[in-house]
Amino acid sequence: MEKIIIDGGNALHGQVSISGMKNAATPIIFACIAVDDVCVIENLPRINDVEIALNLVKSVGGKVRFLTETSVEIDTRGVEPVSAPCELVRKIRGSYYLIGAMLARFGRAMVALPGGCDIGARPIDQHIKAFEALGASVMLDSSFIEARTETGLCGNHIYFDCVTVGGTINAILAAVKAKGQTVIENAAREPHVVDVANFLNYCGANISGAGTGTVKIRGVERLSGCTYAVIPDMIEAGTFMMAAAATGGRLYIRGVIPKHLEATSAKMIEMGVSVEEMDDAVLVTRKGPLSPVNIKTLPYPGFPTDMNPQVAVLLCLASGVSRLSETVYENRFRYTEELRRMGAHIQVERNTAVITGTDVLHGASVRAVDLRAGAAMVIAGLAAEGRTVIDDIFHMERGYVDMVGKIRSVGGNIRKIAIPASYDKEDFENGGSHERDQRF
Ligand code: EPU
Repeated sequence: MEKIIIDGGNALHGQVSISGMKNAATPIIFACIAVDDVCVIENLPRINDVEIALNLVKSVGGKVRFLTETSVEIDTRGVEPVSAPCELVRKIRGSYYLIGAMLARFGRAMVALPGGCDIGARPIDQHIKAFEALGASVMLDSSFIEARTETGLCGNHIYFDCVTVGGTINAILAAVKAKGQTVIENAAREPHVVDVANFLNYCGANISGAGTGTVKIRGVERLSGCTYAVIPDMIEAGTFMMAAAATGGRLYIRGVIPKHLEATSAKMIEMGVSVEEMDDAVLVTRKGPLSPVNIKTLPYPGFPTDMNPQVAVLLCLASGVSRLSETVYENRFRYTEELRRMGAHIQVERNTAVITGTDVLHGASVRAVDLRAGAAMVIAGLAAEGRTVIDDIFHMERGYVDMVGKIRSVGGNIRKIAIPASYDKEDFENGGSHERDQRF
């Protein structure tokens, strides 16, 4: 069992580098299956979701070889149209990209239903609608999805009933080698959608309009391998921006695309935080009090749902009442109970958290209920007075590269420890002798 321990109160100061984006790296890894060649993917974040995606590619016959810590060669020429082990598929949400990639390559796919954070119902009806529009028959039961076409996929019009990142990327994957042209309307405009399209275009695909609401894909006969670098993770960058502001610090966050951070920056500036944009960095400084603001999460370029828990911590420290509305996932607010343990004043009314700021949060024993909720607990712990102990930290390891090491390098008093099976909880939470330090 591992936990994160934070002794709060240190303002974060210095420089931190942002890693490659989880939600771009995962689909690009699966897209390599559609490419059917050797690709080199650079700026890969070494996180659990990525390791699982690579293992899934290996499980269907791909070869994976790390060239450096963050670049990997993926050879998918030996991939077979077999189903990947369920226990691996169910570990990550992104495994649904196996369906689009296998369909493009073999005209058939059989995949267990994917896992991921418990933040809402997360249906995949729009993915299925897209595969069917391209001519696949899809069968779904409570645990498996099977899609196949006997005559080959054909381009078509696909209109999504809701903006879906996964659905848009899966439709692009399936359409990349289909006969004729596919037009996706109401497509997701997230930077990771653009990144996957750019990767496929480097491999010889013909995709235009990614990043707008209408994506056009003209099917090509074959793709060939390329070397491609994943974009920086705007959610990791946003998390560090919030940590700088919550602790009253000053962080130079480098290796980012400031344009991708605009919604986050705009709200922080509205709260009174200074955010200066450079070519590939942002400098975040907080000197004064935080003003309350109202925020609504929306698909890109709106305020990202994956920043909901982190910005909530900042709102907890503002002087006044803020409203944070969630429009993407119905179950995002499970973390508010944990923040209340730290002295936050939050009431959730339907899809809106009404947050009354307080001068100080205090350390407590809390859980990371999901990936981004865990990041919020870390920010709250850094800003709080006293000691915070975070359980279930495996969620964070799915999505953040060396979060503890990066925060320590800018002055946070944080560490990860392994806990013996039996320990004295009270003694431990008060800094007692049972800690076995496992710094990294
Ligand atoms: N939706 C449907 N039907 C579908 C697909 C989606 O109703 O067929 C709904 C969802 O239930 C949700 C909304 O549409 O209410 C948006 O879902 P979307 O498909 O965009 O999300 P996703 O592809 O499942 C990805 C990221 C999430 C991120 C969202 C939104 C991956 C693996 N996951 O999920 O990332 O929150 O897009 O940007 O790429 C995270 O990184 O912590 C995370 C949860």
